[in-house]
Amino acid sequence: MIDAGSHGEVLLRVNGLTVRLHSGNGLVHAVEDVSFSLARGQTLGVVGESGSGKSVMARSLMGLLPKRALAGGSGEILFQTAGGAQRDLASLPEKQLRLLRGPALAMVFQDPMTALNPVLRLSVQLTEPLRLHLGLDRQQARSRAIELLASVGIPDAAGRIDQFPHQLSGGMRQRVVIAIALACSPSLLIADEPTTALDVTVQKQILDLLARLQRELHMAMILITHDLGVVASRADHIAVMYAGRVVEYAPANTLFTSMKHPYTEALFNSIPRINDPSHTRLQAIPGRPPQLIDPAPGCAFAPRCQYAQPRCREQTPPVVTVADAPDHQHACFFPVSTIPGGRPHGR
Ligand SMILES: Nc1ncnc2c1ncn2[C@@H]1O[C@H](COP(=O)(O)OP(=O)(O)OP(=O)(O)O)[C@@H](O)[C@H]1O
Ligand code: SF4
Ligand SMILES: [Mg+2]
Repeated sequence: MIDAGSHGEVLLRVNGLTVRLHSGNGLVHAVEDVSFSLARGQTLGVVGESGSGKSVMARSLMGLLPKRALAGGSGEILFQTAGGAQRDLASLPEKQLRLLRGPALAMVFQDPMTALNPVLRLSVQLTEPLRLHLGLDRQQARSRAIELLASVGIPDAAGRIDQFPHQLSGGMRQRVVIAIALACSPSLLIADEPTTALDVTVQKQILDLLARLQRELHMAMILITHDLGVVASRADHIAVMYAGRVVEYAPANTLFTSMKHPYTEALFNSIPRINDPSHTRLQAIPGRPPQLIDPAPGCAFAPRCQYAQPRCREQTPPVVTVADAPDHQHACFFPVSTIPGGRPHGR
């Protein structure tokens, strides 16, 4: 069991989360036995290539998977509510979940344009959660909405609030999405690739904004990205996902100095480094992520792993805890060995 218990009061504890989805080609094993915990005010970075199950995992925490796609699931999502009660979001009726979305947990989706309603003015989209969850009247909600827009760095918030989403730049739209997510001061924010569609300068601004708001609201955050570099300095812990599983979990510093899973090593080698000469070629991870329909037996990374051995193709490696590092887990039979203080190397 992956545990952040020693890092403060646990807000979220996920145990054995498994999600199956229907697709035209068969049953998708999108999330497989995922466990982790997250303390109040802390950031968990979730990293993995496209299709590794990051968004399905995030949406299942929010109870926002499309019902017609859901083919089955199991596990617990234990969430500490403001009143001090623990709720299992996995089994909570939709009506009660809806009351928690906004004031307790909120999500910034991958694509800001789909997260905003194109035909509604920002004022409507911002004031709705304020009126619904906080009981503010029309005027109070409008004033608060203007404050929220200003707090996410929208210039002339009072003038902009009556605009439509298409009148804003991509970066400004994402700021509005963040303002809506934070409208009711949630204790957990899930940010799913919040900067994917934005250029590098705006990406940094948005990530800095999220970090500032997180500090101010003492909010826990799950920051999802395919780029290990993005979470390097922004997450307290990092979960590396591959083929629906968390294959490595560790405090961020530990992950970078003594990573154990060959997939983490491969992701690490694909991060551009500031000291690399400009013509340095990034080491792309060879091969492609596996299909999650009818997964082959054994370790899902085996076809791409330079360290794979016959056993890897026969058995699924269980999650094990590193000796003397209770919050460092990995799922590999032959973990990467490390040189003290240096980069990992293979065997
Ligand atoms: N609504 C759905 N119905 C059926 N399958 C889905 C659905 N949403 C996602 N999947 C499948 O679930 C698997 C995990 O997808 P997911 O979107 O979680 O990946 P991801 O890690 O978020 O990728 P990306 O980095 O591209 O956003 C994929 O195989 C995907 O095709
Ligand atoms: S279990 Fe085997 S194939 Fe899988 S990552 Fe470890 S060494 Fe590679
Ligand atoms: Mg995604």
